[in-house]
Amino acid sequence: MVDTPSLAGQPDGFLQWQLVYFRGGRRKNPVMQPMAADLSDDDIRNLAAHFAALPPPQAGTQGLADPELFASGRKLAQQHRCAACHQESYAGAQAAARTAQQREDYLLKALRDFKSGARIGNGVASMGDAVYPLVDEQLRALAHFMSHLP
Ligand code: HEC
Repeated sequence: MVDTPSLAGQPDGFLQWQLVYFRGGRRKNPVMQPMAADLSDDDIRNLAAHFAALPPPQAGTQGLADPELFASGRKLAQQHRCAACHQESYAGAQAAARTAQQREDYLLKALRDFKSGARIGNGVASMGDAVYPLVDEQLRALAHFMSHLP
């Protein structure tokens, strides 16, 4: 479904935080907020452990890459040190999401939401700062790059 992310193989910590944010209304989404509203802390721990243990999407899931867009996304990711938090493989770690092989439409939406301030995340300088200097064309390239990682 459009704008709906893959959860399999996401870091446990990332999944827990996002469910906590949806539950408390810090992260806004008309589908996810009601879904998370009644979850207990234990429910959140169990759900996160379940999805974290599933095998992540395989390379190629998102189809063939556009070589030029991929290369420009890779260059931007290096310049802006995205891998410092998301890992070289973009498998994510702790509170930082797995972005490798994630749906491109969802990644682009996420980046745009961080850029506009619609999504605040953990509040400490991370994604807001990361996307602050980037324009929409660059967000597109980054989303394409991460979704088509080999
Ligand atoms: C300082 C650490 C840090 C850096 C650098 C960073 N990120 Fe993130 N990123 C995070 C964290 C933490 C989250 C989860 C934010 C939240 O709490 O919602 C995240 C979330 C994301 C998401 C949303 C994923 C999802 O499934 O919702 C995308 C997309 C993303 N980052 C891409 C990037 C890109 C592209 C760059 C480089 C331009 C980058 N990040 C740089 C820490 C970082």
